[in-house]
Amino acid sequence: MSGIFVFDAYGTLFNLHAAAEQHRAAIGEEWQRFSHTWRTKHIEYTWHTTIVGRRQTFWALAERSLDFAIAAHGLTVAPETRSALLAAYRRMQAYPEVPEVLTALRARGAKLAILSNGDPDMLDDAIKAAGLDGKLDAVLSVSAVGAFKPAQPVYKLATDYFSCTPTDISFQSSNRWDIAAAKAAGMRCVWINRTGAPEEYPDLAPDRIVKDLRGLLV
Ligand code: LAC
Repeated sequence: MSGIFVFDAYGTLFNLHAAAEQHRAAIGEEWQRFSHTWRTKHIEYTWHTTIVGRRQTFWALAERSLDFAIAAHGLTVAPETRSALLAAYRRMQAYPEVPEVLTALRARGAKLAILSNGDPDMLDDAIKAAGLDGKLDAVLSVSAVGAFKPAQPVYKLATDYFSCTPTDISFQSSNRWDIAAAKAAGMRCVWINRTGAPEEYPDLAPDRIVKDLRGLLV
């Protein structure tokens, strides 16, 4: 198999709920709902920033959304715990199957890239922490465009980088809204539906739905 595989990062390659899980003792039993609030608020802030036309780093919005989640859940979080949560977010682990799948795809001649909202330095830290160094041909950050996903120019970063047409690219994301946007940009799309989330965006359907990245090898 050859081809070009472009991956979303957070939630697709990197386990973004691992930070809250690592500190579940400090957060309490609602750590999963807390992590969900943190993530959804983070994404809401990226959409607001882009639509209003302001510039913010993904990292600044990660901090802001963490503070919102702490307040919204009525938690009393020690400054050390807040710092530890951010540090864990910075050094995210990959989902278990990710290294072997990337290696197998490359062995079949595929080109691999990340296309992410993450700032270049955040992505660099996450890739190193997850042991994915050297497994990707390119790491493309939306910061080069000055807008966050799902702004359409973001997806053009990938076609520009590989000098290809959108249909040459297989785009993988666990975010259904990200898949819908890549589909609108003309890419072939694989929704990594790790959580069994319900289907949405019926007019911008993925070409395939798989449970985890191993589905790319079959
Ligand atoms: C990213 C977020 C959207 O990595 O998951 O782009």
